Amino acid sequence: MANPSLGALTWWRKWAKKHWAIAAVGFSVAVFLFPLISNSWRDDDSNVNHQFDRSHSITADLVDLTLLHNAKDTGALCLDGSSPGYHFQKGFGSGSNNWVLHIEGGGWCDTISSCSFRSLKPLGSSKYMERQVPFSGILSCDPAQNPDFFSWNKVKIRYCDGASFAGHPESENGTGLFFRGQLIWEAVMHELLSLGLSSAKQALLSGCSAGGLATLIHCDDFRKFLPKDATVKCLADAGFFLDEKDILGNQVMGSFYRDVVQLQGVAKSLHKECAARMEPYKCLFPREIIKNIKTPVFLVNPAYDIWQIQNILIPDASDPHHSWQNCRLSIHKCNPSQIATLQGFRSSLLEALSEFQKNKEGGMFINSCFVHCQTWMANTWHSPKSPRINNKTIAESVGDWFFNRNILKQIDCPYPCDRTCYDLDFT
Ligand SMILES: *[C@@H]1O[C@H](CO)[C@@H](O)[C@H](O)[C@H]1NC(C)=O
Ligand SMILES: *[C@@H]1O[C@H](CO)[C@@H](O)[C@H](O)[C@H]1NC(C)=O
Repeated sequence: MANPSLGALTWWRKWAKKHWAIAAVGFSVAVFLFPLISNSWRDDDSNVNHQFDRSHSITADLVDLTLLHNAKDTGALCLDGSSPGYHFQKGFGSGSNNWVLHIEGGGWCDTISSCSFRSLKPLGSSKYMERQVPFSGILSCDPAQNPDFFSWNKVKIRYCDGASFAGHPESENGTGLFFRGQLIWEAVMHELLSLGLSSAKQALLSGCSAGGLATLIHCDDFRKFLPKDATVKCLADAGFFLDEKDILGNQVMGSFYRDVVQLQGVAKSLHKECAARMEPYKCLFPREIIKNIKTPVFLVNPAYDIWQIQNILIPDASDPHHSWQNCRLSIHKCNPSQIATLQGFRSSLLEALSEFQKNKEGGMFINSCFVHCQTWMANTWHSPKSPRINNKTIAESVGDWFFNRNILKQIDCPYPCDRTCYDLDFT
C-alpha cells in the first residue's frame, strides 16, 4: 500500500527536478517552501517572469531561522535530537500587538525507517533547515499582498517531528528517534509568549497541510495561552484530510494515520472523549477534531486537494496500470468517469463539513481548484489573478471572517465552473 509521506516526497522530488531551472532563476529562495507541494506557476515563462517581477521585492524579505533557546532543557527536539526552530518578524504600527503564526506542513512519518529517513532532512532536523525563508502570502508585510495582517508580528514555525506537533516520547524507546511533537509545540509557545505573544490583542494561528492539521489539534490550547480579552482564531489551510477509501476500496489514509498514532504516541494529544469512544487514529481526522474546537476556526481547502487526490484517493500503488496517471497529475487530463470519481471525493468533503456549516463562528473557503496550500503564496492568497469565490480572494474572505465584517462560508460550484483557479499541472 502507498505511504502518503513517501508519495509526497517522490512527487516533490519529481517536481523539483522538472522545475528547478525555473525556480532557480525566478525564485531560488522560495523553493524551500515546498516540502510537499509546489507553488502554482504553470510552465509558461511569461507568467513565471511576471510573477517574479511582481514578487521580487517581496521575496527579498528574508527572515532568519531562530533555534529554540531552551530546547535541550525542555526536551523539545526534532526527530534527530536537534533543536526545533521558527522564523520571527516583529510587527509594526497598528499591528504591534497582533500576531499571526503559520505552522509549516510536510506530511508525516509512520514507521521507524520513514522517520529515520526524515531525520536526515529539513523536516526532521534543524541541521538541514534553510537559515532564511521569504515571508509571503499571509506572512507578507506588503499591504497589497496581505491587506489585513501585513503589520502583525509574524512567525513561521518549522515542522520537524513528523506527527503534526502531537508525538510523545513514551514510544520512542529503542528507536534512536525523538518523538517530541507535543513538547515542541509547548516550547515554541513559551518562547513566543516571552517575545510578546503573552500580551497579544489579536492572534491568528494558521498552518498548511500537516501544519493545518496541527493548527486544528492545538487551536484551543493556543487560545488558553493568550489573554482572556484577546481575539484569538485559527485558520487551517489544506489540512482537512479525509478518511476516504481509495479507488480500489482500501482505507489507505486511515491505516496510515493508525500507524502514525501508534508509532509516535499521538493519542495523548487528541481529544480524550473522542479517543475513548473510538480508535484514537480516527480522532486525528479533522472531521472529528472540529466537533470539539471551541475557538473560531476558518477552513481553506480546495475540493480537489491535489495531495489528497494523489495520496488518499489515487495513491500510486492503487493504479498499477497507470490509467489514472495523467488525471492525478492534472485535473484537465481526467476523462468523464474519472471526473465523476473526483466529484465523489468533493461530495465526501462537503458531507464531512455539513455539521461545521452550522457553526456560527466558523468560516470556510472551499474552492474547486486542483491545488494544495493556498495561504502562503501571494498568487493564491491575494493578487489580481488569485482564486476567488463570489469575487473575494482567500485573504479577503479570511479577513472578513476574522474581523467580523462578514461571517463567511463560501463553497464553490463544482469543477470546471471556476475560472479563477490556480490549478497545478505536473504532466
Ligand atoms: C527502554 O528500553 C530499555 C531496554 O531497551 C529498558 O531497559 C527500559 O526500561 C525502557 N524504558 C522505557 C521508559 O520503556
Ligand atoms: C471584483 O472585485 C474587484 C475588486 O477586488 C472589483 O474591481 C471588480 O469590479 C469586482 N467584480 C465584480 C464582477 O463584482
